[in-house]
Formats: sequence, C-alpha cells, structure tokens
Amino acid sequence: MTKIKKAVFPVAGLGSRFLPATKAQPKEMLPIVDKPLIQYAVEEVVSAGVSELIFITGRNKRAIEDHFDKAYELESELEASGKVGLLGHIRNILPKRVSCVYIRQQEPLGLGHAVLCAQPVVGDAPFAVILADEFMDVPIGQPSVTKQMVDVYEREGLGVLAVQPVPRESTRQYGIVTSSPYRQNLEFINSIIEKPQPEKAPSNLAVVGRYVLNSAIFEHLRGLGKGSGGEIQLTDGIASLMKEEKMLAYRYHGRRYDCGSKIGYLKATVNIALRHPEVMSEFGDFIATLDLARERK
Ligand code: UTP
Repeated sequence: MTKIKKAVFPVAGLGSRFLPATKAQPKEMLPIVDKPLIQYAVEEVVSAGVSELIFITGRNKRAIEDHFDKAYELESELEASGKVGLLGHIRNILPKRVSCVYIRQQEPLGLGHAVLCAQPVVGDAPFAVILADEFMDVPIGQPSVTKQMVDVYEREGLGVLAVQPVPRESTRQYGIVTSSPYRQNLEFINSIIEKPQPEKAPSNLAVVGRYVLNSAIFEHLRGLGKGSGGEIQLTDGIASLMKEEKMLAYRYHGRRYDCGSKIGYLKATVNIALRHPEVMSEFGDFIATLDLARERK
C-alpha cells in the first residue's frame, strides 16, 4: 500500500469566529501557551511519516510562511546573547527531511475548493488533510491522530475520516456521517452530509478535521457547485467519491479541541498550560487560588 507522504493544510479561511484576533493573522497562528496551532498540526503529521507539507494560504499567508522559514536575524541575536534554549526552539521547527509548499487560494470559496488547489502538488498520491484549528491532544507517548489514521489507511487501503459523536444540537457545524460497524473503532461510511440541521441530521457522528484521501477526490471536487453556506464543500466531494469507492470512519484515540471557537481555544490553553513544564506549577497554583464559585457571579 502506498505510504502517505503528503499533507494538505487549508489555512485560507476567514476565521470570523475569532475576530479581531484573526484580522491580520490566520487563526492557525494563535498559540496554545507558546506554540502556534499550525506547529502542533505539523508535528502531528511529521510524526506520522509525512515529509511534504502543502499549505493552502489566503490573504494573510506571511506569518505561516515566516514561521516555518529560517529566521536569520533572530537566530544571530539569540546566539549573540547566549540564549541557547530559545535558539533550539526556533531553529529546528522542521526536520531536514520535510519540505513546504505554499499555494495561494485566490478567494475563500470553501474547504473543498482549498483542497482542490493542492492538486498540482499532490498529483496522484494519497494524502492527508489537516484542519489545524482542530487541535488533537493525545497522551504523551501515544501515536498522533494522523499517525493512527495513516496506519488505518495503510492497512485497509481505503480513505479514512476522523469522527466523533457530537451533541445533536451541534450537527449544523459539521459534516455528519451514517455508518455500519466494521472493526473496533472503524466503520464503513454509508452517507455523508454537510452541516445538517439537528432535526434533519441522519446521526450525530461528526467529521472532525482529519482526512486521509485518495487523489480521485480531485475530479469529484472539480465538478462541484456551491453547497452549504454557498461554499464548495469537501463533504460534497467525498459524497460524490463514495459512489466509486468505500470510505472508513475512524473513532480516534485522543481529545479534540475546536480552537476555531473561543471556548475550545480556552479549554485547550488551560489543559496544555497545566502540563507545560515552564508554567504548570505556577499556573496550577493560580487556578487553585481562584474562587470559581464567586468569580462566576
Ligand atoms: P471553517 O469552516 O472553520 O471557516 O473552515 P473559517 O473561515 O476558517 O472560520 P470561521 O468559521 O469564519 O470562524 C474550515 C477549514 O477550512 C479552511 C479554514 O482555514 C479552516 O482550516 N478554509 C475554509 C480554507 O482554507 N479556505 C476556504 O475557502 C474555507
């Protein structure tokens, strides 16, 4: 089975749920403690063996491109002032075997359109799609969610979508699948629909920001018109592809935070801060001093 070597990061969305923070920078540059969301996502795919990163960028691509580039001036200043620890943090963000390609999505026409923009670089290889604002936390030492999915793809030879049950009233925020049992944590997808209203949703099993796809998806995306929200939807492309090939829904091991929303971002920040070696102790003490019942009034 072909190995997954390429990952696509669509980072051209408007990030309107997080304005004004996302006015001049992509939401994927928001930090969880001291590392931007996009770096967590890149580390996740690199640990899965991916070596080519394809970013689909929009009007504010600079910050992401600069983040993964060499910062000569900053490096020499840190070197001169002997800040060796900090130097290590900014110098080896990407292993040498990993390369980056940036493709501009001229207009934010939707996630499906963003993925289609990657076709010239992906070619006919299978690839992963990662929505970096969906932050996936796994216990230390456990395989990343992308690694888990790549393993499923390489074993089963079928496209894989990460899924998680969500509250019924939230179905309008997700692609929703119906499925039939296959193996432990794995199901065959029977149908997929984008952002159904709760009363019309065929289930509450949501697709959550991680996909492993065969390149056949591109031809299906190309033929699509506008879907939900007037955007070209990846979900609609997958629904069309599924007329030709089976796909799997995978219930991943890990905890997901929707960091495109303020509440998800805050939850992730608190949880990661309570594990971060530099701040965990003082931050934990601080949290313990809060009289939470009183503060809520
Ligand atoms: P979202 O639905 O989260 O939209 O996009 P958004 O615009 O980024 O954020 P809100 O809802 O306005 O707050 C899902 C993913 O698809 C990317 C986004 O960057 C995000 O990772 N995307 C979306 C694109 O790259 N291009 C698009 O045209 C639309």
